Amino acid sequence: MSTAQIVSPSIRRPVAILAGQPTSDGAGVKLIRVIGQQRLPDLDPFLMLDEFRSDDAKDYIAGFPDHPHRGFETVTYMLAGRMRHEDNKGNRGLLRPGSVQWMTAGRGIVHSELPEQEDGLMWGFQLWVNLPAKDKMTVPRYQEIAPEEIPETEIAGGGKVRVVAGRFGGVNGPISGVATDPTYLDVALPAGGVFTHDLPAAHNAFLYVFEGAAELGGEAIARGRIVVLSQGERVEVSAAKGGRFILVAGKPLGEPVAKYGPFVMNTVEELRRAVEDFQAGRF
Ligand code: CO
Repeated sequence: MSTAQIVSPSIRRPVAILAGQPTSDGAGVKLIRVIGQQRLPDLDPFLMLDEFRSDDAKDYIAGFPDHPHRGFETVTYMLAGRMRHEDNKGNRGLLRPGSVQWMTAGRGIVHSELPEQEDGLMWGFQLWVNLPAKDKMTVPRYQEIAPEEIPETEIAGGGKVRVVAGRFGGVNGPISGVATDPTYLDVALPAGGVFTHDLPAAHNAFLYVFEGAAELGGEAIARGRIVVLSQGERVEVSAAKGGRFILVAGKPLGEPVAKYGPFVMNTVEELRRAVEDFQAGRF
């Protein structure tokens, strides 16, 4: 008689629970900076996470007129409202509720993101994902995914998961070919709901609660809080009263980060060249 050895996945614990910091960006859009603030400057490979959410047009109407990016990827996930995108590589898009735009700026792109509405709620996230040194000067790439192209799966016992990137319950998200192998899930739990998911153990991961509340590792997570997770595999989240959050993970790059506004490179010399190239119209 033999006893099978049971190997339990390691549980990811909360290592920090933080509120975002109110700020403004673009031409004066009010937003909450979650990653990229003083208490959480970055979370390799993630450089920034903003939540924008207002039903007061003066908080968002000015939008983000023409501005450059080099060296990383910008990811916009819309919950409410409409945003028009245009860039100097000929891409045009209209971001609708439930859609995602994954833009690889690579060697350089100039784009604008402007509200396509004059009133009503504008709500969503922008995440900045770093590129490895070898891909920072890659050809820009633009993936825009319509809401109906993002698979939604049911959680046994109640709840729904939209798979933007990565994999959940045997379902793959539409975003592909990203260097940091990201997971991006939008998880809605009913009252009493439980969510369990295994991530690659070496990936850095966080979740951000944007509706209701949740519990993780014995800690209560209120709306507007980010939870930085420890290394490990299994993520276990419950929501006694119901809640909705994004769970995001990616492979850390472990490379030096040199940042200057919309340019993110590895060295100061590369930043200097980015400014020079942009000013000379080489984007
Ligand atoms: Co931008």
